Amino acid sequence: MKRKTRKNPAPAARTKSGPLTFLIVGAGGRGFVYADLAKAIPAKAKVVAVAEPRDFHREKMAREHGIAPELAFTTWQAAAATGRRLADCVAICTQDADHEACVKAFAPLGYHILLEKPMAPTAAACRRIEAVVRKHGNAFAVCHVLRYTNYTRAVKRIVDSGRIGEIVSVEHLEPVGFWHQAHSFVRGNWRNEKESSFMLLAKACHDIDWLSFVVGKHCLRVSSFGSLSFFTKEHRPAGAAKRCLDCGLSRKCPWSAKEFYFKRLADPKSHGWPLDVVDPTFTRKNLTKALREGPYGRCVFACDNDVVDHQVVNLEYEGGTTASFTMTAFTPMGGRRTRIFGTKGTLESDDSSTIRVFDFLTGKTETIDMNASGASMAGGHGGGDGGIMDSFCTAILEKRPELLVSSLDATIESHLTTFAAEHSRRTGRTVDVAAFARRAAPRSV
Ligand SMILES: NC(=O)c1ccc[n+]([C@@H]2O[C@H](COP(=O)([O-])OP(=O)(O)OC[C@H]3O[C@@H](n4cnc5c(N)ncnc54)[C@H](O)[C@@H]3O)[C@@H](O)[C@H]2O)c1
Repeated sequence: MKRKTRKNPAPAARTKSGPLTFLIVGAGGRGFVYADLAKAIPAKAKVVAVAEPRDFHREKMAREHGIAPELAFTTWQAAAATGRRLADCVAICTQDADHEACVKAFAPLGYHILLEKPMAPTAAACRRIEAVVRKHGNAFAVCHVLRYTNYTRAVKRIVDSGRIGEIVSVEHLEPVGFWHQAHSFVRGNWRNEKESSFMLLAKACHDIDWLSFVVGKHCLRVSSFGSLSFFTKEHRPAGAAKRCLDCGLSRKCPWSAKEFYFKRLADPKSHGWPLDVVDPTFTRKNLTKALREGPYGRCVFACDNDVVDHQVVNLEYEGGTTASFTMTAFTPMGGRRTRIFGTKGTLESDDSSTIRVFDFLTGKTETIDMNASGASMAGGHGGGDGGIMDSFCTAILEKRPELLVSSLDATIESHLTTFAAEHSRRTGRTVDVAAFARRAAPRSV
């Protein structure tokens, strides 16, 4: 049985022609991604306002987009307190725990809302966001950018065409990457649950959402296991210093911040993420200071991290379709790897770019190389960042809500599945997703 979902609220009618204007809330990594992407589609989008407490980042955004001084705010609270809609759309790119308050402040002012994932760190907060958006009828999308890649579109097309028959089971791997884990989930913003959210939500809500999109059925039950196994004080080598700059072992340590960030500083092509998170000025002096004093210079075995470094989730969908998902730190950086097993054939990819389709009847394999077509890796997240920005604007400008495939309904459903999976990991029990949702996050409207 294929799933039926309610449509996204219709984007509000446009009152003027020309590009949609954007207020960027949180001019950090993601805020700059969407602002740069707006610049790339000038007929559809233009950044006119920013809210960001860090002077360097706010001023850079204002300079690069010609933002008037009166539309450059130090906080989202100040932008909302004007009581006016300063732009057609708001891109909410603050940290996870701030998303709910931002949506509550901007939805009543009539903004179209592009909200970074995850919606919020708790299921109940996601429901509250849902209620506010439904009440005010804002055009709304969550940045589940993987839904918008050409790779995903191709996978979805093949699956929906029936070419590999009914999906029986799926195997999906998110190879987080050893240094990405160290950067973001041991030393960085998402290392500690109290400050952000649990790892499955922070990193792999994308994957649970992607599986739900591709399988196209409601998820009924989940079970999950995982833990923080390696980045703990017990694994700190004898003689390791608390800070990598002071450590005599750095040359032999794959996690050394000194080796990792200074190598990137020496290569101007690497002057972007993740180095910009540590030092956006790209100078030896400031990087040294950041590693000496800030979170990114700490030994990975001496941090205040508590999120898992590996987790598996088993999912059962309607009709008995199953999926198994693994997220692990202990890999090189790379694309997601997927095997979809159907009744008539299989679909495989080892890099979220090249697709192999095997047909049981003919015994033949077709290889579809999205790189060769120039449609795969253009831009962040395999083109998904650009894909969502373009779809968001086009959906509103051309009144085509169906383009917003990361809709409120779809996101709530996959987020609740993610929360249910985490509940399973913590309790050691198989969790019925619908019952969990009724208990943990009843609909509030
Ligand atoms: N879609 C994706 O694939 C993806 C990837 C990475 C991160 N994210 C999510 O995007 C969001 C932002 O992540 P990021 O990497 O850009 O983080 P970031 O820390 O680089 O950016 C957040 C920004 O919010 C600013 N901020 C803090 N308080 C503020 C306030 N009161 N008003 C306005 N701005 C304020 C911070 O100064 C910072 O610049 C997070 O929710 C994160 O989980 C999504």
